[in-house]
Amino acid sequence: MPSLKDSARIVKNLENLEYRVLKVFVSSIKHHQIINNHNILSYSNLHKDRVKYAVESLLKLKLISKTQNGFKLLTAGLDVYALKLLVDSGIILGIGNSLGIGKESDVVEAISEIQQQRAVKFFRIGRISFTDTKRKRSLEKNKNVNNWLLINIEAAKREYDFLVKLKSTKMNIATPYFRSMHSIVMDRINGLRLIEIRNLPNPIEIFDKVFEQIRISYNEKIINGDLSEYNILLDENNDIWIIDWPQAVTLEHPNAEFLIRRDLHNIIRYFRRKYDLTIDENSYYNTLLK
Ligand SMILES: Nc1ncnc2c1ncn2[C@@H]1O[C@H](COP(=O)(O)OP(=O)(O)O)[C@@H](O)[C@H]1O
Ligand SMILES: [Mg+2]
Repeated sequence: MPSLKDSARIVKNLENLEYRVLKVFVSSIKHHQIINNHNILSYSNLHKDRVKYAVESLLKLKLISKTQNGFKLLTAGLDVYALKLLVDSGIILGIGNSLGIGKESDVVEAISEIQQQRAVKFFRIGRISFTDTKRKRSLEKNKNVNNWLLINIEAAKREYDFLVKLKSTKMNIATPYFRSMHSIVMDRINGLRLIEIRNLPNPIEIFDKVFEQIRISYNEKIINGDLSEYNILLDENNDIWIIDWPQAVTLEHPNAEFLIRRDLHNIIRYFRRKYDLTIDENSYYNTLLK
């Protein structure tokens, strides 16, 4: 599969004709995962020779693939489309190196038009086959279970909306700027994940800062739901940033209590095992409810 760097290169060289046909694929993902030459002709209003040429070149670029009944959009095709939208609308100038490959995403650095550092997160749910059956079951409830592209677009929407909501609080949240299909542009955080830090000089101080962030989001009726040492960054000013919010829930969610307790449990367990801290889970939980 082409990397995001390949996709950025493709964006630069994409012909208008190829883009128009790519756009037909993107516009149809909600209703038709597979489209044929006939569909492309009628949706694009292009001459059949031009459609043929564009389809061949999108195939060669590996942005679409051939199936039994037609063609389907690939992740790289959606990447190219999303990136082009970001660049054409001046949100970013281009993308740079990888900032992290997560369970469900690829995150790369980017520069904004005013030369500020950004991070762009591209959702990649479905890239890894599921071993966790609980997750699989929860996804199967989604009627679009086979349409990974749509699932990733929906995840990006969810995370973007939570980031916007949390940004209006006092929480340390990477400022979200824009969502383009299955990608989100936000501030780049210059920090390390807790899991990458060999030794904290003052672990209790850091735990308290993490708890403070949990408390602010809880007061806003939002629970991260996937909190761990992998989703917490510590910057050079010793400030804590919680990232990765697509699975967040509000307090109305039927599992809200379970999830907040699990978030707390995971983080307390990390500080206990790694730094030998004894932290009373129940008393911290109870202070949240006050
Ligand atoms: N705003 C950001 N600034 C800098 N690095 C980031 C940012 N967001 C994510 N990352 C990096 O990318 C990795 C994956 O992002 P994350 O949101 O945790 O997605 P996943 O669901 O794939 O774990 C993180 O572990 C982190 O290293
Ligand atoms: Mg993560």
